Amino acid sequence: MKKYDHLIVGAGFFGAISAFELTKKGYKCLVIEKRNHIAGNCYTENVEGINVHKYGAHIFHTNDQEIWDYVNALVEFNRYTNSPVAINNGKLYNLPFNMNTFYQIWGVKTPKEAADKIAEQTEQYKDITPKNLEEQALKLVGDDIYKLLIKEYTEKQWGVKATELPAFIIKRLPVRFTFDNNYFNDRFQGIPMGGYTKIFEKLLEGIEVQLETDFFENRAYFENIAENIIYTGPIDKFFNYEAGKLNYRSLRFENETLDMENFQGNAVVNYTSHEEAFTRIIEHKHFEFGTQEKTIITREYPQDWNENLEPYYPVNDEVNNTIYNAYKKKAEALENVIFGGRLAEYKYYDMHQIVGSALAKMKKIPAKN
Ligand code: FDA
Repeated sequence: MKKYDHLIVGAGFFGAISAFELTKKGYKCLVIEKRNHIAGNCYTENVEGINVHKYGAHIFHTNDQEIWDYVNALVEFNRYTNSPVAINNGKLYNLPFNMNTFYQIWGVKTPKEAADKIAEQTEQYKDITPKNLEEQALKLVGDDIYKLLIKEYTEKQWGVKATELPAFIIKRLPVRFTFDNNYFNDRFQGIPMGGYTKIFEKLLEGIEVQLETDFFENRAYFENIAENIIYTGPIDKFFNYEAGKLNYRSLRFENETLDMENFQGNAVVNYTSHEEAFTRIIEHKHFEFGTQEKTIITREYPQDWNENLEPYYPVNDEVNNTIYNAYKKKAEALENVIFGGRLAEYKYYDMHQIVGSALAKMKKIPAKN
């Protein structure tokens, strides 16, 4: 008999929920995490009394009552509503595209005026079959919105021209004919009061966790100490890159503590022109309505990925998806390993999707008898 029933690789949302659920079912779990902290990319660190989102801004949102109840049973959430603003050449615009944005761009005041303006802007593109992201966006919203709020922002994000990006990246561009700056359409959203890390402390309470422990540095040992493995790391690495390496887009975060109470008046401000190399400035205190004397801001710079950098966004183009599908097949053939989460499934997932998928996968495992 092995020492543990389940070895869980990674202490992010997928790993932590798996560990929590399996422990409730009577299994003995060991969680290993290569970083020096739990919580994966949702990790928040308290600096100057402010919870800093270390791996990018995280806003929890979901339409699913069960998932919302589940996370609220762990910690209390506040009423934060994501309403980002965009800056282009010194002018501010509300997001997502709504009546406020249309008023700011064109001075139109009624939904009919706005709809007529968009119809006029998209008229010349209505019969094209978009060959790239630029054409797709022009067909959906027309020239003005595309040039002010989409083109250069997207080019900074992906590091290539919009005409070289596939059309499928933008499937829809929601336009709202109401004065509603709420970015998400979901029924529920908020930020855990006291930061995300608290959720993970709750989930992992009483469970053995080894930090700064990389599965691959001692693979044979770890494969032998548990009957089963829940793996949330990169899937290509698990299979020794046999089918090729998967590509990602990365980010660089530049943090600054400022001796002032309020820098930009909003948690998220997007910079949509090439004038600035960063795409966003996050002012962390506003996620929790902070009133501290100082403030902490983070400039977010997209960058090409290499193995020394954090893999943030999968590049789900044809080449990478083919490689991933080869690994997926191999993964499905392994009986005692469950692959889950953004790295093991090579997919961008929001947090509520990870919570949902971890719960669904853990439900299938019967309680230990
Ligand atoms: P996650 O990356 O959190 O956890 C995996 C863990 O495994 C990591 O801690 C890693 O160190 C560890 N690991 C990997 N290899 C290992 C090894 N060999 N040995 C040991 N440990 C290993 N979602 C949302 O709902 N709202 C939002 O606002 C945002 N915002 C956002 C911003 C940015 C910039 C990004 C990139 C992503 C978001 N997200 C988001 C998505 C959110 O971050 C995501 O859904 C979850 O973090 C995914 O949880 P996982 O457990 O899959 O991965």
